[in-house]
Amino acid sequence: TKKPVIAIDGFSSTGKSSISKIIAKKLGLIHMDTGALYRGVTYFALQNCTDENRNIDIQKLITNLSQVKLEFQNIDGELQLFLNGKNINREIRFPQVSDNVSQVAKEADVRNYLLKTQRDIAEKGGVIMDGRDIGTVVLPNADYKFFMTASQDERARRRFLELELAGEKTDIETVKQNLISRDKIDSEREVSPLKQADDAILIDNTNINKEETIGLILSSIKKF
Ligand code: C5P
Repeated sequence: TKKPVIAIDGFSSTGKSSISKIIAKKLGLIHMDTGALYRGVTYFALQNCTDENRNIDIQKLITNLSQVKLEFQNIDGELQLFLNGKNINREIRFPQVSDNVSQVAKEADVRNYLLKTQRDIAEKGGVIMDGRDIGTVVLPNADYKFFMTASQDERARRRFLELELAGEKTDIETVKQNLISRDKIDSEREVSPLKQADDAILIDNTNINKEETIGLILSSIKKF
């Protein structure tokens, strides 16, 4: 039978991407982290479309969107993001990108621009895609939909440890403020806000670890 299409949405730092990556390996699916695309556009904007105060000029970005050529390349089994031919997989995790990405992602033109890239990948099936609006907007007919949440404190703690491991200098309060601010903008925006699809399975992993979360997801996926 055909390989499934799986949509995983939810709040920042609930482990969507790392969990999706492991499930993709286990089930032989392609994993696409759609947040990387929004981060890629934001990285482009920070380099090319800023005003005199070095803030992103959204109008300038929208005028220049067609110059933003994002593509994923499979490097050692992992999809890495390239912007106009340059690998930007590391750069898109920089705090400056995290601080600005939700402002960019709330623009309808930006979302439309990235829609085709996301849908094309899912067309042949066999994909697990994580983001904010995959089950609601990008792939409403996905075979399986999950929505992940966890407490803000727990998410801040996880994100902080991750950044620390990556050698970024930050503190937990700053990380928490970024999470809160992104949650708010992502949930309240007009286009494709972050929300649970009616037919998505809710997973709150505040008190369960990664392996248990993966177990929960795998237990609802039928053999194919
Ligand atoms: O998943 P990640 O935290 O890397 O996503 C970064 C930002 O990209 C989110 O905070 C959100 O503003 C935006 N995003 C989105 N829709 C998606 C995936 C990400 O709006 N499907």
